[in-house]
Amino acid sequence: MANEMWGGRFAEGPAAVMEAINVSIDFDKRLATQDIQGSIAHAEMLAKQGIIDGQSAEAIIQGLKEVKSEIDAGTFTFKRSLEDIQMNIEGRLSEIIGKPAGRLHTARSRNDQAVTGFRLFVRDTLDAVDEALHDLQQALAEKALAHAATVMPGFTHLQSAQPVTFGHHMMAYVEMIGRDRSRFRDCRKRMNECPLGAAALAGTSFPIDRFATAGALGFDRPTANSLDSVSDRDFAIEALSAASILAMHLSRLAEEIVVWTSAQFAFVTLSDKFTSGSSIMPQKRNPDAAELVRAKTGRIYGATIALLTMMKGLALAYAKDMQEDKEPTFDAFDSLFLAIAASAGMIRDMEPQAKRLKKAAAAGYATATDLADWLVRVLGMPFREAHHATARIVGLASVKGVDLEKLTLAEMQSVEPRITQDIYGVLGVVNSVKSRISYGGTAPDNVRKQARRWLAQLKREKAPRRA
Ligand code: ARG
Repeated sequence: MANEMWGGRFAEGPAAVMEAINVSIDFDKRLATQDIQGSIAHAEMLAKQGIIDGQSAEAIIQGLKEVKSEIDAGTFTFKRSLEDIQMNIEGRLSEIIGKPAGRLHTARSRNDQAVTGFRLFVRDTLDAVDEALHDLQQALAEKALAHAATVMPGFTHLQSAQPVTFGHHMMAYVEMIGRDRSRFRDCRKRMNECPLGAAALAGTSFPIDRFATAGALGFDRPTANSLDSVSDRDFAIEALSAASILAMHLSRLAEEIVVWTSAQFAFVTLSDKFTSGSSIMPQKRNPDAAELVRAKTGRIYGATIALLTMMKGLALAYAKDMQEDKEPTFDAFDSLFLAIAASAGMIRDMEPQAKRLKKAAAAGYATATDLADWLVRVLGMPFREAHHATARIVGLASVKGVDLEKLTLAEMQSVEPRITQDIYGVLGVVNSVKSRISYGGTAPDNVRKQARRWLAQLKREKAPRRA
C-alpha cells in the first residue's frame, strides 16, 4: 500500500528493506512533545494570518492536545507505515478531527518541521544538562568545603609531587564543570533560532509570520536563511562537542575514583551503593559506576564523530542523511545524564581516608620543594642552587630510608651549613599546604573561600531558573 501522506503518485508500497532503512518512528517518537508544540504554534499563526480559518485551527489544536494525551497515557499506536513522528501525529490527528487536519501542513514541510522539533529537543536537553551539572557542582563544592584541610598527595606524571588538599582537588572539577556549563549556555544561545517556516527549502508564498512562531516556541528569532534552516545540524554537533568535553572531564574524575578506591591507594571508600562484588573473589569491591562513567565517554565522542561525518560534504539543502542526527544524539545525552548523576552520587558517597591520605602525602619527599623554597627565602640562595642542595638532602634521606623531617639538623647542615632548626617548620605536609596561599593555591583557607564562593553562586542560580 502506498503511503497515505505522500503516496499520491505511488502505486506500490516500499520494499521491506526500504521500509527498514527509511522508517524513523522507532526512535523519533521521542520528539512527539516537541513536534506537537511546533504544530500548535504553526496552526495558531496560520489562523492569525488568515491562512486557515479559525475554526479549523481550533479543531487542529484541540486534536493535537488529544494526541498528546494519548501519547502521554501510552495508548497511542505508532505506525511504521507512517515512517516518522511528524506523519504519525498528523495521521492520528486526521483520524480524530477529520478533514481540517489536512490544513495543518499549509506553508510548512517535514523538513522545517522535523528540524524544529529536533532543535526544541536539543534545547530542552541543554537545559536539563545544566540542571544536572548544577547538582554535580554542588556535590563537589560541599565535599570540598568538608575536606578543605584534608591533606593528600598531589601528583604530576602520577608521581607524588607536592601535598595538596582534598578540597582543592574537588574544586578543580568544580571549575571544569563551570566551563562545561558555560559552553552549553553559549551553544543554547547560538542555537535559539527557529527554522519553522523555511518550508521545504525556499520559504513559502503564504503570508506567514515566522517571528510569531519563533516567539511562541521560546526562540529568540527566526533563522534568517531558509536553505540553512532546513540543512543545519551544527547546533546538535556543537551540543555534542560540549558534551564530549564534559564527558572527558567526567572520565578523569571517574579514573581517579577507580585509582583511589584500589587497595594500593585506599584514598577513599565508596559504599555498597556505588560498588559491586565479584562472583568469585569475596574480598572485592569494584568501582563499577566509576568505570562505566569512564567508558560512556566513548559513546559520546562516537556520537559527535557520527554527526560530523554524516554532515560532511552534504550539498544544500535537506538530505535524508540528516535523519541520522537523532539516534546518536539521544544515546549520547542518555549516557551523559547517567554519567553526571552517577558522578554526583559517587562524590556524595565517597569517604576520603584522611589518615591514609596524609601519610601518602608525606611519601616520596613531597615537601622537597618547600625545603628548596626555604633555602631561597631565608638564606637568599638562587633557586637553581637551592634545588641542587635539596636534591642532595633528599639523597641523604633516601639512603637512610627516612622522610625529610626525620633527618637530623646536623645531617642537613652537612649539605648546607646555614640551615637552622626553623627548617622543620616547612617540612611537614600540613605546613606545606598551609603555605600555598597564592591565588588559586591549595591552602585550606583558599579552598574554603573558593568553595563558599561557588556554593553561594550555585544557590543564587537555583532561585529563579531560566524560563
Ligand atoms: N524524518 C525526517 C528526518 O528526521 C524528516 C522528513 C524529511 N523530509 C522528507 N522530505 N523526507 O530527517
